[in-house]
Amino acid sequence: MDYQPSEKRYSDMIYRRCGKSGIDLPVISLGLWHNFGGVDTFEPFRKIIWKAFDAGITHFDLANNYGPPPGSAEENFGRILKMDFQSHRDEMIISTKAGWDMWPGPYGDFGSRKYLIASLNQSLKRMQLDYVDIFYSHRPDPFTPLEETMGALASTINSGKSLYTGISSYEAERTQQAADLLKSYRTPCLIHQPQYSMFERWVEDGLMNVLGENGIGCIAFSPLAQGLLTNKYLNGIPEGSRAAKVTGFLQANEVTVERIEKVTKLNGIAKNRNQSLAQMAIAWLLKDERVTSVLVGASSTEQLVDNLASLANLKFQHEELKMIEEILTNG
Ligand SMILES: NC(=O)c1ccc[n+]([C@@H]2O[C@H](COP(=O)([O-])OP(=O)(O)OC[C@H]3O[C@@H](n4cnc5c(N)ncnc54)[C@H](OP(=O)(O)O)[C@@H]3O)[C@@H](O)[C@H]2O)c1
Repeated sequence: MDYQPSEKRYSDMIYRRCGKSGIDLPVISLGLWHNFGGVDTFEPFRKIIWKAFDAGITHFDLANNYGPPPGSAEENFGRILKMDFQSHRDEMIISTKAGWDMWPGPYGDFGSRKYLIASLNQSLKRMQLDYVDIFYSHRPDPFTPLEETMGALASTINSGKSLYTGISSYEAERTQQAADLLKSYRTPCLIHQPQYSMFERWVEDGLMNVLGENGIGCIAFSPLAQGLLTNKYLNGIPEGSRAAKVTGFLQANEVTVERIEKVTKLNGIAKNRNQSLAQMAIAWLLKDERVTSVLVGASSTEQLVDNLASLANLKFQHEELKMIEEILTNG
């Protein structure tokens, strides 16, 4: 089937400036961690990418190891780019990362220059691209000098293989150090990608301030706590859901009674706002203007459409925020 992007694709999306940079990102971006691998079915996930682009999602987030098997999400995305988006590459912000275990031996993990540069070369081949827009250090590496890791990110810009640098899951102090180094190399850090949701709020304890002060954008990953912050698990663990899959990163034992009690109460507040819980969870993150974008995953176009509808109501009454806080803190 042929794909023709919608003429109206930029009419409804909201874009935010990513820190102090020249880049606007859609407030909702799409991640390809799950559901786009070699184990998944091509045509349905191809249509998720179509739906995303038609809705103004210009930012697609990958990593070397996304699949399973590792590398297959990049390969599949590359195929889709070639088939459907050849004349739209310049409308897209495509990111990839290296930092987690990718190949055997001492050079396929963490943050050495050797690993990062080799991995980006592999990612470009898999996606059939000349460059990515953002190349991330996927996680901090306690065993490698930060100068080496940041120097490697900077040199991928200097070689034209990436346009911007990003870091993921770096805590506040290390983020400041990374930002200082990248500034000194004249390749300032564009963006930080931390886990951030109603259920995972470590970034509020210092990191967001560092990002704000340094003009670094924030893109929140797993904003729906991998599906927990939706109505999906209200009545148990459905077949085919991430928590039901052996390869899924959400374990069934994380769907606890205590969590589902909170989810049920949050769902009640969402209903009063005429929103789904997923929509409210996304809006809740975007209330902080320092959050440039919320990086959702989706296993169907219906889920993506549900998530996109959060744009209709991003505002919260003071009373709603108080009630949400009470549920998150005390249950
Ligand atoms: N930097 C890092 O270390 C890191 C780590 C993790 C993720 N990420 C990035 O963040 C992206 C998103 O992560 P994530 O997939 O964990 O995000 P998420 O949005 O929290 O979870 C996505 C999952 O939630 C379920 N879902 C989504 N929308 C739904 C809806 N409207 N109603 C019901 N269920 C819904 C689906 O699960 P089912 O499959 O069960 O349907 C979907 O696969 C990744 O693709 C990746 O790009 C980065």
